[in-house]
Amino acid sequence: MAPPGNAAAPPALSKLTLRQSALNYPAIKPGQFHNTGCGRVCLVTGSGRGIGKEIARSFARSGYHVAVTARNAAEVEASCEEIKACCPDIKAVGIVADGCKHSDMEMLVAKVNEELGMIDVLVCNAGTNTFMPFTMTDPKDWWYSLEINLKSPTELTRLVLPQMRKRNSGTIIYTSSRAAVADLPWTTAYGAGKTGITRFAAVLQVELDEMARIESGSENGISLFSIHPGEIETSLHTTGFPEQTHRSAPYIIEHMKELDKKRPKFDISLPAWTCVYLASGKGAKLRGKYVDCTRDIEEAAKLYT
Ligand SMILES: NC(=O)c1ccc[n+]([C@@H]2O[C@H](COP(=O)([O-])OP(=O)(O)OC[C@H]3O[C@@H](n4cnc5c(N)ncnc54)[C@H](OP(=O)(O)O)[C@@H]3O)[C@@H](O)[C@H]2O)c1
Repeated sequence: MAPPGNAAAPPALSKLTLRQSALNYPAIKPGQFHNTGCGRVCLVTGSGRGIGKEIARSFARSGYHVAVTARNAAEVEASCEEIKACCPDIKAVGIVADGCKHSDMEMLVAKVNEELGMIDVLVCNAGTNTFMPFTMTDPKDWWYSLEINLKSPTELTRLVLPQMRKRNSGTIIYTSSRAAVADLPWTTAYGAGKTGITRFAAVLQVELDEMARIESGSENGISLFSIHPGEIETSLHTTGFPEQTHRSAPYIIEHMKELDKKRPKFDISLPAWTCVYLASGKGAKLRGKYVDCTRDIEEAAKLYT
């Protein structure tokens, strides 16, 4: 029987084959996606650096035109130039925008439409985390985490969905986290935000499926997924521990160091090519689900059949 719901990841996930890189992982091995994009348009938020940058590059390598966006102009430009250099046959644009400003998000969608066309794939990846005990966290910082990890991707979805619904086609992927399904301390806001976006994807999937059936008796062609990318060494692993954490709660740093020692290492290719796989239609059985990129995706799909 299919596991119920989504946020409580199926316990059987831990029994699936561990995957650490796309390179020796048959389901998502990069070569097979060559030209699957066929000039379709992909927007990846938080793609100036880290996981988002690699996701954007992988879509470009698969033939998608890509839009790169974040707040840091130099990083956006560098990421966009790298993509153009490695994939001269596709179009790439860099757009500086703050995911927490509604007017920036409106401008972002309008510019992507103008310069590349209608959005086929949206990857809501921008996010951040600060490790601090709840009792020591400034309420403003706490709610900012909810804004960037939950409100921002939700509102961007609101802006992009109409063009996908018009064509009854599209893929939306949310970069969630294991924090959505594990009780990781010092991250109450991040855990709440990532749980929220994971549930949002699951519920919206069912809602869109039902609406298509009720409104036109047809099948909904829009697929949503949330992913845990794997624990990957990016700048998040430094910015997550600001001076205040070092000063006021140094035990958190020791705690996380101990956790890190026990964890396998994951390569950034893992979430990047998992996203391309999901947008290719191969992950149809996982529509609406929380996909843990560190576990074999084809074995995971079988849990839902
Ligand atoms: N690395 C991991 O181990 C890990 C594990 C689980 C989940 N994740 C998730 O993976 C995603 C990517 O993280 P990462 O590790 O690649 O971190 P990263 O290297 O810090 O990259 C985060 C990206 O998000 C952008 N961003 C942050 N706040 C933004 C805002 N207000 N508006 C627009 N863009 C914003 C950043 O650019 P600007 O600062 O220039 O705006 C940057 O491009 C996040 O959602 C994170 O929660 C990461």
